[in-house]
Amino acid sequence: MTSTIALLFGGRSGEHGISCVTAGGILGAIDRERYDVVAIGITRQGRWLHVSDDPADWQLQGATPPEVPSDGDEVLLPTGTKTPGAPVPLRVVRDGRVEPLAEVDAVLPLLHGPYGEDGTVQGALDLLDIPYVGSGVLASATCMDKTSTKAALAAAGIASAPSISVHEDEWAQRAEEVGASVRERLAAPWFVKPARAGSSLGVSKVTDPAELEHAVKTAFAEDPLILIEQGVVGREVECGVLQGRAGGEAPRTTEPGEVIVGDDLDFYDYESKYFGKGTVSIQVPAALPDGAAERVREVAARAFIALRLEGLGRVDVFVTETGEVVVNEVNTMPGFTPSSMFPVLWENMGIDYTSLITDLLEQARTRRIGLR
Ligand SMILES: Nc1ncnc2c1ncn2[C@@H]1O[C@H](COP(=O)(O)OP(=O)(O)O)[C@@H](O)[C@H]1O
Ligand SMILES: [Mg+2]
Repeated sequence: MTSTIALLFGGRSGEHGISCVTAGGILGAIDRERYDVVAIGITRQGRWLHVSDDPADWQLQGATPPEVPSDGDEVLLPTGTKTPGAPVPLRVVRDGRVEPLAEVDAVLPLLHGPYGEDGTVQGALDLLDIPYVGSGVLASATCMDKTSTKAALAAAGIASAPSISVHEDEWAQRAEEVGASVRERLAAPWFVKPARAGSSLGVSKVTDPAELEHAVKTAFAEDPLILIEQGVVGREVECGVLQGRAGGEAPRTTEPGEVIVGDDLDFYDYESKYFGKGTVSIQVPAALPDGAAERVREVAARAFIALRLEGLGRVDVFVTETGEVVVNEVNTMPGFTPSSMFPVLWENMGIDYTSLITDLLEQARTRRIGLR
């Protein structure tokens, strides 16, 4: 029996284009024998439109990522109660007329960043009683906001880099004092980053304190809340996590992979992530010293549980010279193109891209809705 999946992608964040590329990957690989797919593109303004489900329409054009067109047939979400467990009827406005679109069994939200990966869309789907892939409201919101992630990790005894967070309003009032406490409490270099962005958007490395102001402004361009973080010297290692198969089963983790950033780059920035700037290579599995991979996997599983993730997550850490594992960030919807780290990590564990999508969709279809 086939079920119907709504793919949600695009969205209002700076990662709109990347999300569309991911949708292209998934549309090309999803098991169409098992799943009927309805493609719903969210425009940069936030409108939900019924769009093409042809993977060819969602590929990179050179360096330009595809985009959900700003106009089209608007999808209408139902309101009110429905029969528990029954598919959710979506409608669409076509030529001014409201027509049935699909009876949806589950949603795959392929959204990165604010208004997608931060709990807002998850909340909307919860209100509609639609099962969906991935974390719920709380975990999505916690992991989107790097200041909250750190607080939750610290409460679970998991290390992350020391940092100071600053809101734009506070910076406007007391930039001098904030600067002074950064210099006093955090060893340089510093990483200045938006609290709720991704893809390295707005992130700068600051080695000279005179550059702090500029870096802060760059981060504020993405988010009124930012972090100034102490730089960690270590290898950049990422671990894929999938929820345990049955309720209560331990999370499944991958062998970690490493992002090896060449000397021609300051750090793993936006252009190096997507547009081939500098030398970056991905090594899966990472060649780590004895015992380090196990420690990374153990920390990743603990972080998954502590942050109350569901479905999937990618836990990014630094492994320091002394072998300490310091969590950098946790992504509730990691990059998911066929060549992205998360699918590659699972491929290395024997779960190919199509099977990974099926795994996630079956988890979503069978999980409880409402409070879980
Ligand atoms: N504290 C840190 N120490 C060393 N490198 C860092 C630190 N924070 C960020 N970086 C570098 O900046 C990159 C982007 O920062 P990250 O916090 O992962 O933001 P994003 O959510 O945009 O990926 C990281 O992949 C890493 O290369
Ligand atoms: Mg990152």
